[in-house]
Amino acid sequence: MSRLWKRERVSQFMKFAQRLAQLRCGHVVELDPSVAATLESSSPRRHPGIIQPKIIRLPESLQKNISNVYREQRIPNLQLQASALANYLKSRKRPVENSDVREAARYYTEKLGYTDTSKLDPEEEKKIATKVKNKLRKHLYHWKPISYDEKMCLVYLAARMAPNYAAIFRVLYEIKRRLPGFQPSSVLDFGSGLGSSVWAVNSLFQESVKEYYCVDVSQAMHNLAERLLWKPQHKGENADDLIIPGIYHRFFLPVSPKTTFDITISNNSLLEIQSHEERMKLLDILWNKTKDFLILIENGSLEGYYTLMEARNMILAKGQNEVSFNPEWCKGEEGYVFAPCSHDVICPRLVKDNFRPCNFEQKYEPLHIPGTKSQVKETERFSYLVLRKGSRPEGTVWPRVISEVLLRARHRVCRLCHTDGNLREVIVTKKKHEKNIYRCVRYTQWGDMLPVSRIESSSSEERKVREQSDDEMKDDSNEDGDTDVELRDEER
Ligand SMILES: C[S@@+](CC[C@H](N)C(=O)[O-])C[C@H]1O[C@@H](n2cnc3c(N)ncnc32)[C@H](O)[C@@H]1O
Repeated sequence: MSRLWKRERVSQFMKFAQRLAQLRCGHVVELDPSVAATLESSSPRRHPGIIQPKIIRLPESLQKNISNVYREQRIPNLQLQASALANYLKSRKRPVENSDVREAARYYTEKLGYTDTSKLDPEEEKKIATKVKNKLRKHLYHWKPISYDEKMCLVYLAARMAPNYAAIFRVLYEIKRRLPGFQPSSVLDFGSGLGSSVWAVNSLFQESVKEYYCVDVSQAMHNLAERLLWKPQHKGENADDLIIPGIYHRFFLPVSPKTTFDITISNNSLLEIQSHEERMKLLDILWNKTKDFLILIENGSLEGYYTLMEARNMILAKGQNEVSFNPEWCKGEEGYVFAPCSHDVICPRLVKDNFRPCNFEQKYEPLHIPGTKSQVKETERFSYLVLRKGSRPEGTVWPRVISEVLLRARHRVCRLCHTDGNLREVIVTKKKHEKNIYRCVRYTQWGDMLPVSRIESSSSEERKVREQSDDEMKDDSNEDGDTDVELRDEER
């Protein structure tokens, strides 16, 4: 009895000491009480903020069909062509707008020493125009639509099937983990290509989804996507011969405004749209076709991130009367960001983080192509956005870990996008924090959510922190393995 009492007193004292230590250095990081309660019986290795699958593999039946396709049709230098296409797609940008071309032309004309070319004689004007054209050709991005014919689709399959599947699987997995009761019945996939999204939806929501509406301009993409769905005993015409039933391949989006889908997806397709105006129109249609979730995924480059931010700003303007820059955008049903942001204010990285894209990483097993060697695992870097219809529900939201968690001696450094729309860096140490919060941070990775209900810092600490640069702080904490608990508010 007395031993029990003693243990309780010691644990009370420890809690008190930790709290005091946090307060003395001005930092309080509190675990969400609902999570703290679950950690009594379960391990922090599986805390509910963890939404990052370890490694993603293609479904076995898909992998088998892919191997069969490459056995039937040999493509010379397939791997070389695939890596060239993958690099091209990674560096793909949005098309340059006419207004930007005009702006750049004016800039180069002025750089050549001319502000007004209208007073020049026609010969000289022509010469200047040629020089400016050459400059534009050299410095501006030349966007071209990609034509996916039969051969190109086979190269695309080798280049992008596994990473695109990994990214959409990761995003859907998050929805499933956060909303275990969610049972979608219909999916619209814009720019469906070879069906990576269909396969991922089927892997996670096979029981409930009855209809997949796949829109793509390329007939060759539709053909190969269907070939990948064949059951081993496939005879041809019968829909029962396909592994996933209920798939409709179409060239256009459904016209009727009444046709809507529980999940609408655009996986790596927005950079294929030929202008800003067309992209905005498309997003408007996709949003109107969405009953619940709109999922947008692009590659993890700055360009992919900007494309998603364009979409985010546009959709979040819906239903808001005061947004004046484009009244057209305000029409339509209201929505909020389900993931990755835990807030609906402007992305802090967009305004204050020195052009660093908000992106995430997912490990995946690459395709096995007969007769070629492949890596055991690879990593896909991508940006994503999950928008949900309706207004943001009340209740605690957890901040998102937006870069690699730094593991240091006796402390962890965690960079968060906080629920108030600010970036924060939290340093959690064994000494100054409650055991469970330290253990939770230990198992949390880039892309996960940190299940905390409160993060606070004292104003004196904030002042000190603002005076120090990011790198200085990191160096300090590296040198001193046992630093105190620190929380940096990077943006205010
Ligand atoms: C980069 S691929 C992405 C394919 C697929 N979403 C995936 O994850 O593998 C882009 C796809 O968009 C299609 N696409 C391009 N412009 C389109 C348009 N205006 N309407 C429908 N599909 C389009 C292309 O044919 C291509 O299949």
